[in-house]
Amino acid sequence: MSFYVAGTGSALPEKVVSNDDLAQFLDTSDEWIVSRTGIRRRHVLTHESLTDLAVASAKIALEDAGAEASEIDLILCATMRADTVTPSLACAVGEAIGTSAPAFDINAACVGVLYCMEIADSFIVSGRAKTVLVISGEAMSKLVDWTDRSTCVLFGDGAGAMLLRAGEGRLAGELSTRPDTHAIRMPNIEGNSPYNRIEQEKLALQMDGGEVYKFAVNAMGRNIEEVCSMAGLTPADIDWYLPHQANVRIIDASLKKFKIDKSKVLLNIAECGNMSATSVMVLLDEYAKKGTFHCGDKLLLVAFGGGLTSGAVIIEWKKN
Ligand code: UT7
Repeated sequence: MSFYVAGTGSALPEKVVSNDDLAQFLDTSDEWIVSRTGIRRRHVLTHESLTDLAVASAKIALEDAGAEASEIDLILCATMRADTVTPSLACAVGEAIGTSAPAFDINAACVGVLYCMEIADSFIVSGRAKTVLVISGEAMSKLVDWTDRSTCVLFGDGAGAMLLRAGEGRLAGELSTRPDTHAIRMPNIEGNSPYNRIEQEKLALQMDGGEVYKFAVNAMGRNIEEVCSMAGLTPADIDWYLPHQANVRIIDASLKKFKIDKSKVLLNIAECGNMSATSVMVLLDEYAKKGTFHCGDKLLLVAFGGGLTSGAVIIEWKKN
């Protein structure tokens, strides 16, 4: 007994920023961004809070599953930056939808949703939960330095949710890290303690793009092989690939050796950019709502991110 995905939801900020919009204040171009990353537009928070989007996503996922908030036994939220350090985004959503289920945030950067799915699996397998709400919300526009063209053009904001119910939909899951504190780094606030002797680092996301690129291609390829082998499947048996949407070149390079039909690889990077943990969640909801998945289809979610974390989960789609 594990879980199946009973419902999904997502919500994106209203404001859409194109590459040409960015070129108005940065030394960049639509041609550079599209050819190096595949990104054309991204959604950026203006008047909405991340909590607003996460709550909206959760309500859509509950409705999609035909479930009530009172059925939820656990809320897990994948995020690197909730609106507040405390309460967690998971608690903020719990309050808004009206449940007192235990709730906490997980920071595994862009792999956060896969970490949440594996934690949900453990709670369900051990009999501690039957219904788990997994949410993700990322406010990347509030982490990047908008004068740094090498990072700010890559990211977007958004939130998503999935309701997991006890069942037989998870076929295998694999999580890993190759610990690295430099390749992707977002410092925290040092505060104003008169005793603190640690200097405040620049409060913006820093990234060694080339190093992350190499890690990503190797990690995603390895995670796909390992999770398929755990499920007794080959990469050719997978109906749909949902890779982390960081860069189409990374996706192409990591999947190349499996000779997968490109129509099986789902993308929304052109419209959303890299939404960190939220990318795979929004991708799942978008294609679920389009009717892409059929009952019995095998979906492989794979991601990499700061930490450096990586992971993959294979699920069988149980909805019609
Ligand atoms: O969720 C995980 C988060 N991170 C990632 O997934 C990042 C992984 N890395 C990447 O996706 C790629 O390494 C990048 C897209 C970040 C960069 O692509 P690249 O092909 O590795 O470019 P580069 O860093 O080697 O830069 C090439 C040139 C440089 O100019 P010079 O030194 O050759 O004159 C950069 O200064 O492109 C320049 N450049 C830009 N030019 C126009 C960097 N950013 C921009 C920009 N517009 N936005």
